[in-house]
Amino acid sequence: MFVDLNNGFCYPQMGAGTFPLKGYSLLKAMYYAYKNGCISFDTSPAYGNERWIGIGVKVLKLLGAKRIYVTTKLSNSAQRSGDVRGEFNSSLKRLGVTYIDLYLMHWPNPETYVEAWLEMEKIYKEGHAGAIGVCNFHEHHLDKILEVATVVPAVNQVELHPLLTQKKLREYCAEKGIYIQSYSPVARMDKKLIDNEALLSIADKYGKSVPQIILKWNIQSGLMVIPKSASGVRIKENFSLEGFSLTDVELNTIDSLNVNYRVRHDPDNADFSKL
Ligand SMILES: NC(=O)c1ccc[n+]([C@@H]2O[C@H](COP(=O)([O-])OP(=O)(O)OC[C@H]3O[C@@H](n4cnc5c(N)ncnc54)[C@H](OP(=O)(O)O)[C@@H]3O)[C@@H](O)[C@H]2O)c1
Repeated sequence: MFVDLNNGFCYPQMGAGTFPLKGYSLLKAMYYAYKNGCISFDTSPAYGNERWIGIGVKVLKLLGAKRIYVTTKLSNSAQRSGDVRGEFNSSLKRLGVTYIDLYLMHWPNPETYVEAWLEMEKIYKEGHAGAIGVCNFHEHHLDKILEVATVVPAVNQVELHPLLTQKKLREYCAEKGIYIQSYSPVARMDKKLIDNEALLSIADKYGKSVPQIILKWNIQSGLMVIPKSASGVRIKENFSLEGFSLTDVELNTIDSLNVNYRVRHDPDNADFSKL
């Protein structure tokens, strides 16, 4: 299933996360994901696996894949150095491509993110990326770039799961035409989430796992989502979401589980001298 981004570019709604996979385990995960219908992969220079992603895409094409979509990101170190173009070109080289489907800013470093966005716009306008977007942006970060932007970010990739439902940000982004893409969608299997009674009871009703219920909630809520797994069995599980639908009541129940619990940094409290 695809979503229509705000520039008309169609992007797979669900893709595979790849951190911290590298080498053979990454290639295996990409193969399992592809075999289960996944044609999109999320990476970043910070994951140190772009070369392997590039190899994986070539392997999948040899196996018959017509189109594989890759998201990569502008790292914090490149934002600090100001060399946005240089890092973009290095990503192209490592991935072995001449174009990036979706190029995202990894974090909003308060010192540099507005300037970095304007550099990303140039790359996009020259046709080197299918779409550009951001990650870990709160509403106030988006407000600030929208004051000067000539391109509205197509995607905001943020931590989002039933314990961090990001309701206000979702409403804000929907109004601005920005797709939210959920990262850490199963909160890295945090026990607080996975043992949640409401989720267990919905999972029991459909004979599905809690991760499947969470991923289905993402899809039915119109969110893009990128679960990561290294296991063939769990990748199959995560990409097998057909044959059942959550009711509106169940979607609302899951939305109501929010406790603003994070497994990653809050962008407003991150130490950008280290991150
Ligand atoms: N933009 C950003 O700042 C940012 C930050 C974090 C992540 N991301 C991206 O988002 C992707 C996903 O987030 P994430 O890796 O942090 O967290 P996640 O997808 O919520 O959780 C990954 C963990 O959950 C396990 N898992 C996945 N599916 C499972 C299932 N069905 N049953 C049991 N265990 C399961 C995996 O273990 P196994 O591998 O052993 O199955 C892995 O340890 C990342 O890989 C990365 O691409 C982006």
